[in-house]
Amino acid sequence: MDIFETISTRFSYRGAFTDQLVPREDLIKIVQAGIDAPSGCNAQSTEFIIVDKPELIASIAQLLTDRPVCKTAKGLIICVCDKTPAYGKLSFFIEDCAAATQNMLLAINALGYASVWLDGVIRGNVGEEIGKLLKIPTEKEVRIMLPVGVPLNKSKPNLKKSFNERARFA
Ligand SMILES: Cc1cc2nc3c(=O)[nH]c(=O)nc-3n(C[C@H](O)[C@H](O)[C@H](O)COP(=O)(O)O)c2cc1C
Repeated sequence: MDIFETISTRFSYRGAFTDQLVPREDLIKIVQAGIDAPSGCNAQSTEFIIVDKPELIASIAQLLTDRPVCKTAKGLIICVCDKTPAYGKLSFFIEDCAAATQNMLLAINALGYASVWLDGVIRGNVGEEIGKLLKIPTEKEVRIMLPVGVPLNKSKPNLKKSFNERARFA
C-alpha cells in the first residue's frame, strides 16, 4: 500500500476485534511512527503508554462501559501530554499529540489493523482514571487512546466533502 492509499483507506473502527493478537513488534512499529511525528520546537511532548496485558486492557475498557472496540482490543496506545510550554508561554502539546496520533493511525492501517481516535470519550474523569491505573503523574494529561486489533467487520471512512468544497488555489 503506498502512502496515498494508506491515507485514503484509513477509517475509524468502533466495532469488535478478532482474537488475532497484535505482536509487540507491530505495536512498537506503530508507536515509532508516532515518535517520528513533528512537534512544536521539537519538544516531543507526547509520551506513549502501550498496554497489551489482557487484564489491564479489561480494567481500562470497563471505564468506557466496555465498548467493544476497547474490550476486544489487543493493544491500547495511550498518549500522555506534557503540558509544559515549549516556546515562551506557547504550548503545542495538543498539536504534537494530534500529529503523533495521525501517524500512528496510518501505521495501524498500513499493517492491516484498525483503530479509532478516542479523545472526546476519555476527556475528564475517564482520562483521570486511566492515568491513575497507569500511574501517570497528575500534572500530565491522558489525552488520546488508540485501541488496536484486526477488525471483525468491514468498515470504510466516513464520507468527506469534495476537494472543491474544502480547498482552493488562491
Ligand atoms: C480530535 C478528534 C477527536 C475524536 N474523538 C473521538 C471519540 O472520542 N470517540 C470516537 O468514537 N471517535 C472520535 N474521533 C473520530 C472521529 O469521529 C472520526 O475521525 C470522524 O467521524 C471521521 O471518520 P473517519 O475517521 O472514518 O474518517 C475523533 C477524531 C478526532 C480528530
